Amino acid sequence: MANLEINVDRILNFVDENILESLQQEIDIHYRELTEKKGRGSDFLGWLTLAEETLRSGLLKDITEEAEKLRATSEVVVVIGIGGSYLGSRAIIESLNNQFQQYQTGNPEIIYAGHHISEEYLVNLLQFLNNKDYSIIVISKSGTTTEPALAFRFLKKHLENKYGKENASKRIIAITDKSRGALKKLAEKEGYSTFIIPDDVGGRFSVLTPVGLLPVAVAGFEITKLVEGAAAMQQELFKTSSIAKNPACLYVAARNALYRSGKPVEMLVNFQPNLFYITEWWKQLFGESEGKDHKGIFPAGASFSTDLHSMGQYIQDGLRILFETMLLVEKPGKILTVPLEQDDADGLNYLAGKRISEVNNMAAAGTAIAHHDGGVPVISIRLTELNEFTLGELIYFFEFACGISGYMLEVNPFDQPGVEAYKNNMFALLGKTGYEEQQKEILKKIK
Ligand code: PA5
Repeated sequence: MANLEINVDRILNFVDENILESLQQEIDIHYRELTEKKGRGSDFLGWLTLAEETLRSGLLKDITEEAEKLRATSEVVVVIGIGGSYLGSRAIIESLNNQFQQYQTGNPEIIYAGHHISEEYLVNLLQFLNNKDYSIIVISKSGTTTEPALAFRFLKKHLENKYGKENASKRIIAITDKSRGALKKLAEKEGYSTFIIPDDVGGRFSVLTPVGLLPVAVAGFEITKLVEGAAAMQQELFKTSSIAKNPACLYVAARNALYRSGKPVEMLVNFQPNLFYITEWWKQLFGESEGKDHKGIFPAGASFSTDLHSMGQYIQDGLRILFETMLLVEKPGKILTVPLEQDDADGLNYLAGKRISEVNNMAAAGTAIAHHDGGVPVISIRLTELNEFTLGELIYFFEFACGISGYMLEVNPFDQPGVEAYKNNMFALLGKTGYEEQQKEILKKIK
């Protein structure tokens, strides 16, 4: 694949000889289950072919028009959502944004709410919005998730106080299920513009639906290229399940071979801070898809070289349960060369004339060798450059790999029953109607 390359050479001395080839048969079975939609959770495989369908539909035009309206009237757009309802858009926007120029570019600033229950954050956010022209994109597939619903209650009121009820309702876009949930009902009652999340696309696979596409378009990025990238990757990955030719299948084979060889923790590491939220999105994708039935590869993350000065010691020398997947970008987006200093007081003249990216690349190469030598297998995934198209490719690559990998672990990668446990306890503790019996039980556990 021209824009994405995977290399697994640095895992080979940690797994049994020929294990990758021996996994091919299993991969073939699960590849067919996924692509023919015959495996567990196959009701939630809409994302598999969605990119091509989206390119053929009028959806991108509708999203772009709605985005233009928000851009014309808003200095700030607040994206309310949690988990799959905000991580994908945040990952793309922060990957492509200039960290220091949100205002100067003329694009609205995108900020996030409803992804936790911090009182302090909400108070600070409402204060910040007092002096801003802003709009809201509220996203919840179920339409009933507590965190975003609670944040929306405050922000809706704030927006209505600022602009009046009628004008406020023109500044709110709801993205939710086509018929179910409190958010859908509210949107209908208040007359908000809405976009639908398809029934057969689960939250963490929804980044290339309006869930991710509207915030990305509002931020000023090209959503068509993003979807085209995903469609191109789909075409590539649908050609064959051979691990010699299909990079997603090779990734699945490598990580499962390592898991079976006593490495249950995968760290996705990057060498540039704008990829931090790609790691967060990836953690949700794999964690919520694979961590079931007391099985699964634990997805962790690190940003290097920053975290080499914190987590680096453990990775190099701690418990040998880890493997790393390095996400590398070949061509940097900007150019900066180290200058020569006459007196060389800082001792850095040996770097003079080199690009900062060359220094970073050597940090990456040095880290891969050091970690491998220290007992950490390293997979590398290399993107030619970072743009909407390559991010679309990367997103689809990980989603596809996640589906097959979940099947290799014999779990349903498309459900998330485990996330209900904390919610039930929270509802019981807070005395929600219907939780009376659970409340009696849980109160006994509070010391
Ligand atoms: O992947 C998932 O399904 C979850 O992480 C959801 O995205 C998250 O729980 C938010 O759910 P909802 O969009 O229904 O508010």
